[in-house]
Amino acid sequence: MTQLILWAVLGYLMGSVPFGMIIAKVMGLGNLRNIGSGNIGATNVLRTGNKAAAALTLIFDAAKGAVAVLLARALAGEDAAQIAALAALLGHCFPVWLGFNGGKGVATFLGLWLALDWRVGVACCLTWLVAAAIWRISSLGALAAAAMSVIWVLVLTDSSAFALSIILTLLVYWRHSANLARIKAGTEPKIGKS
Ligand code: G3P
Repeated sequence: MTQLILWAVLGYLMGSVPFGMIIAKVMGLGNLRNIGSGNIGATNVLRTGNKAAAALTLIFDAAKGAVAVLLARALAGEDAAQIAALAALLGHCFPVWLGFNGGKGVATFLGLWLALDWRVGVACCLTWLVAAAIWRISSLGALAAAAMSVIWVLVLTDSSAFALSIILTLLVYWRHSANLARIKAGTEPKIGKS
């Protein structure tokens, strides 16, 4: 039990590092809160026009989820890995450093799935790519990947992470409520547009 609590805390702290904000600041791109959707993720960093910064944000936000899972698994086992995965996503979405108002969790979601089960991770990345290629809307790619992750867990794995997959998906949907409203209204911007 102590181990699980420890990995909940460590996973949260790893997930809570707001790489998008840090990268935007270091590269002189301004405050992401005043740009586009105001989100701290790679999609909004791309709206600054700096593709390298967006790619770095995507990589680091994904890596923090993956590292949290891999470290927890290596040092404390599979239950700790699942706890660390959820904690990392919560850390990204509700970081103490930003007054608990963080990102939408997509890159971290993809990274943690790649580490939890690479087959589900790859399937989610492909789902994102296909949906984004069809609609050219980042949030639709994310919502499609999050919804399909539950199916991928059922189809590709022994389903031991089924409950976790539902919780992670609900969290991603919750964080996309403003995007869902814009999608319904037909005002959600295409990738790279503000
Ligand atoms: O990765 C977040 C994405 O799904 C939506 O981002 O900035 O368009 O709200 P944004």
